[in-house]
Amino acid sequence: MARTAFSWTEVFERTGRSLRGSEIREMLSVTERPGVISFGGGLPAPELFPIAGLRAAFDAVLREDGAGALQYGPTTGHRPLRELIAQRLGRRGIECSPDDVLITTGSQQALDLLGRVLAAPHSPVLVESPGYVGALQAFRAFELEPVGLPMDADGLIVDGVARWLDGRRSLGAPPPAFLYTVATYQNPSGVTLSPDRRLELLDCATAFGVPVIEDDPYSELRYDGPPTPSLRALPGGEDVIYLGTFSKVLAPGLRLGWVVAPRPVIDRLVIAKQGADLHTDGLAQRGALRFCLDNDLDAHVIRLREVYRERRDAMLDALRECLPDGTTWTEPAGGMFTWVTLPAGLDSRDVLKRALANDVAFVPGTAFHVNGGGERSLRLNFTNSTPERIWEGIGRLARSL
Ligand SMILES: Cc1ncc(COP(=O)(O)O)c(C=O)c1O
Repeated sequence: MARTAFSWTEVFERTGRSLRGSEIREMLSVTERPGVISFGGGLPAPELFPIAGLRAAFDAVLREDGAGALQYGPTTGHRPLRELIAQRLGRRGIECSPDDVLITTGSQQALDLLGRVLAAPHSPVLVESPGYVGALQAFRAFELEPVGLPMDADGLIVDGVARWLDGRRSLGAPPPAFLYTVATYQNPSGVTLSPDRRLELLDCATAFGVPVIEDDPYSELRYDGPPTPSLRALPGGEDVIYLGTFSKVLAPGLRLGWVVAPRPVIDRLVIAKQGADLHTDGLAQRGALRFCLDNDLDAHVIRLREVYRERRDAMLDALRECLPDGTTWTEPAGGMFTWVTLPAGLDSRDVLKRALANDVAFVPGTAFHVNGGGERSLRLNFTNSTPERIWEGIGRLARSL
């Protein structure tokens, strides 16, 4: 190791901040070993990236508008892309104008910016339990205190949210800074908040004055059943802060996401974003836009759905066939994950050690809980492996139990 003049540990201790790494990212580095079947990351299928179309789109942008693409641009994002996003969202009942849309460097950046602008340090923020690890990481970086709220097969238990808020109010405490939800095909559980509970959640948030952040990367990846309307599209949802992304329908490496929010929120986010990165990559914004203009993104999404539906079915069939009695799992109607609960007495962290020895990986449930729990659970991704690899991997997982 190179010599270093400082004690960096002391430097970091002086900040008074803790920064916890993500168990998922650490584990992904182990799973790069050849031969490992990983159900760990939340990765799309790379063989479905529309590389030729994107290459043609980026070529056209550089040929026809190279100077625009390579120059500094507005923090809010490339206006024609904001128009396209507003128009696409309108088709799903999310009424917004391009001025209500802020382009972000992935929706992950939106989580980071929202943590900065909506909450004072040490504020409680309400999250789902289990919840998306990247959001927990973003919120914790600002010393926010995530409070995990239980879920069932219909998503967040809204009665429980109301009781929690009521208890806090009766103590005279201010409401939490916001409530964060992945209401549709949730990461990590795969469950979807039911239509009735969506309305109840909006009522509850309004009654207690709690802003709602709806993170929606997966709703276009729907395999069964009718589409569930976004919280933002429902009556009373006008103040919901809605996050979307091209990561799951096009390619995550583009790092393109967006926020739809009331204007005062957008204004604050723009100021925070100026400090973070000035603006999102202008070439990527124009390349993605050009791709959408010259190709049929909807047809591409239909293809993703076909392939991912087959993979989801393979995973559910393999779980039924291979896992021992007493194991349960969710049957997601969309998205990328299923959530497995092991028989009593098993701890998924111990199982992971044996699974890695058998060349199969997953993420233990503890990673997704803020207040402890999840020892018997694990998350499996089904989009990044072929049906054959899924069967092989679930067989190895079964042997690790
Ligand atoms: C719920 C959720 N939000 C946000 C993200 C980050 O997405 P992006 O690539 O747009 O930053 C992910 C990625 O897996 C996710 O699952």
